[in-house]
Formats: sequence, C-alpha cells, structure tokens
Amino acid sequence: MRARILSFDADPGDGDTPNEGSVVYHEDGALWWEAGRIRALGNWEELSAQLPTDVSVIDQRDKLVMPGFIDSHVHYVQLDIMASYGRQLLDWLNEYTFPEECRFAQREHAEHMADAFLDELMRVGTTTAQVFCSSHPNSVDAFFSAARRRDLCMLAGKVLMDRHAPEELTDDTRGGIRDSERLISDWHGTGRLGYSVTPRFAPTSTREQLDAAGGLLRNDPSLWLQTHLSENLGELDWVAELFPDSRDYLEVYEKSNLVGPRSTFAHGIHLDNGMRGRLAERGANIAFCPSSNLFLGSGLFDRSAARDNNLNLTLASDIGAGTDLSGLATLKAGYQVGQLRGQPLTAWAGFHALTRGNAVSLSLDDRIGRLAPGMDADFVVLDLYASPLLARRMARCTSLAEELFTLMMLGDDRAVHETWAGGRLQHRRQT
Ligand code: GUN
Ligand code: ZN
Repeated sequence: MRARILSFDADPGDGDTPNEGSVVYHEDGALWWEAGRIRALGNWEELSAQLPTDVSVIDQRDKLVMPGFIDSHVHYVQLDIMASYGRQLLDWLNEYTFPEECRFAQREHAEHMADAFLDELMRVGTTTAQVFCSSHPNSVDAFFSAARRRDLCMLAGKVLMDRHAPEELTDDTRGGIRDSERLISDWHGTGRLGYSVTPRFAPTSTREQLDAAGGLLRNDPSLWLQTHLSENLGELDWVAELFPDSRDYLEVYEKSNLVGPRSTFAHGIHLDNGMRGRLAERGANIAFCPSSNLFLGSGLFDRSAARDNNLNLTLASDIGAGTDLSGLATLKAGYQVGQLRGQPLTAWAGFHALTRGNAVSLSLDDRIGRLAPGMDADFVVLDLYASPLLARRMARCTSLAEELFTLMMLGDDRAVHETWAGGRLQHRRQT
C-alpha cells in the first residue's frame, strides 16, 4: 500500500514535540505485507524498487495509514444499553446493565450481538480489544467464534460474579471458575485470541471466588486479567464495607493475587499515590475511560499523577457506559478531561496510546501496535478529508501535529476509510 504512514517506535512523551526516535512517519510511504504479517515499511521510492513484480500495489496516496486502534476495556454485551439516561455507576448497573446482560443466556442473541459489535469495531478502526462478555459461557463462545472467523486479535473473558447480582447472572463460586477453565482450554492461544480472567469487580465476587481467579493466573501466567477499580465514590464505600480487612480497594485484589503485569484495572479515578505506586511496581495497567467517566459522572482521571508514578496506562471506550466506540472520540474525551485538570493531551501522546501504548501495556507489543517488519498486518486507512468540516479544517493545518489534533477532535467513523486486520480487508466505508 502506498500512503502516508505513521507509527510509533517509542513513547513520544507529553511535550509538544515528540521524544527523539519515537515517531516513524513517511509522507510518501509504502507498507508491504504478506500472509497476515508485515514484510517491510519504508519510503515509497526506496521500497518500491525492491518489490517483486507480482506484488499488487494499492495506491492510497491521499490517505494516512496507522496501526489498528486498540481498546483496552469494553463490554460487548452492553452495546444496546449505550446512552441510558440519568444514573451513576451502581444504579446504572442495577437498572440497565444487569437486565441487559441477562439476555446473553441465549446463544443466538449472543451470536448476533458479537457480530454486531465486531462490525462496529471495524467501522471505527479498532482491530484489537479486551472485552468483557457476560457471565454466561455461551456469550464467550459466541464472541471468540466471531472473532476467530475474522482472524482478529482479541482478548476476552467470562464475567465472574457470585453475589450481589440477579440470580440469572450469578455464578456458583466454583462453577464460575470451572467454566472459565473450560473456556481457557478452548480459546486461549487459539488463532489470535487470548483469555482474560474477568472478575467483574470486588463487590460482586466473594473472597473465595477472587482467590480462585488468582489461582487461575498462578497456574498459567500467560493469561490476562481484567476488572474494575475505584471508579465511583459509592462503590468505594461499598467495597470498604464488604472487605473490612483490606486497607484500601487495591488491597482487595492484591490479597487474591490479581495484580500483575497482564492485569487491566478499568478507571482507577480515586487512587492515592500509594496505590498508584503499588500498581506501577507490579506492572499492572489502569484503563483510562474518559467518555465513560464523563457519562456516569464518575470523576476526572488524573493522568499526570498516573504518569508521574510510572503507572502503565491504557485508553478505552468502556462501552456501554462510554458514549462512543471510536478511538478518535475516546481521544477527544481524554483531551476534554485533561483540560479540566490542566493536563491537555497532545495528539502525539493520544495516538501513541491508542496504538503502541495500549499494545505495550497489554503485553501485545510483540504482535500489534506498530507498523514494522514481523508485526501482524493490522492497520487503519484514515481519510482526513472525510467530511466537509474536516476537509475545511485540514486545509488550514500546517503540520502533521495539527492534522492529528484536528483528527482527534473532529474525526469520527467517517474518517475510517478502511480497516485491515490479519492482512485482510475487514471494512471499507461506503460513501
Ligand atoms: N463496575 C462494575 N461493572 C461495571 C460495568 O459494567 N461498567 C462500568 N463502567 N463499571 C463497572
Ligand atoms: Zn467497564
């Protein structure tokens, strides 16, 4: 593919000028892939001279190619309850979320929703996500089957909940773990899929279930872990009441061996530096979910405090509490939250987070997140002139940094011209 090409080899930092060596940019670039893997990346003039004559060239010189976007925390089973009015976390869960998740007991419903969700992800250029299913093993089989058919790199897991939820969603403590073991053996490492052990959050699991989830991770360190942490003040009070033996929310998870380098804790809004430091020491990551935090009124994430404490961060939509699946919209919300805290997010830091940053924090950077030889051919072809307004504003831009910032503030799914994953065209925008 001949196009403008942007990728990151390292963290660009938070300054206006990216750190030396972090940005790889070819104004007239070439990306060469074969059988789902990238063979080479470079300047068109140099690379095209080396191409065998039977290689077909897709000319997209007016487009910008980036690695496929990554969403580190999203609930596919909540797609249809996005935009549910007027509640904060705990009431939102009881009134909207749990009733919706009950529907995934039916395999056909789960299959339909898995395909609808993946269609949406492809439309917004997100090629990898770490996904909460429901507590029904069916919902996980449906999701992984759909992702496998499309040859996508996806992490997902069955929600573990053995208390404080409707009966239809509640596991038997050990039964939930046995179901997880079966799903791990069927799906973990199959194709480009990985299993993420998924206790919903501390209030909906007994200590026994959290310990058993930790046991799964101890037995197989190649597994991932996803849960929620310190999102909402009411939640914090409830956790303190339920786990009086833990000095803070994080210690509830620490005591069950759930905090490690492959663990993602969504939100982490209400943390102190002690907790940030403990998370950083273990290499765990916090998923910053700005549109969700604004929608549920959960709070303004302190990104600078997280960075100052060397905490691994990821960026996520958290649908259905998030208001948009698009990584561009997540960046926009991230910028807005940052502004309210006096910490504006640069486009460099933003697009790095969406691609290589999320891949590194999720331990997937040996496969995705960068455009480089040997990496999986997952990329997005962006049209910076996709709408009349974008085109007008882009015409004023005088630098790549300005173009990228305009894209993250004014771009939406219309800017996603094509999405490729595993070297296959997964989506092309119909105009
Ligand atoms: N905490 C526990 N479950 C959930 C969920 O489904 N969404 C969000 N945003 N927070 C949670
Ligand atoms: Zn969530």
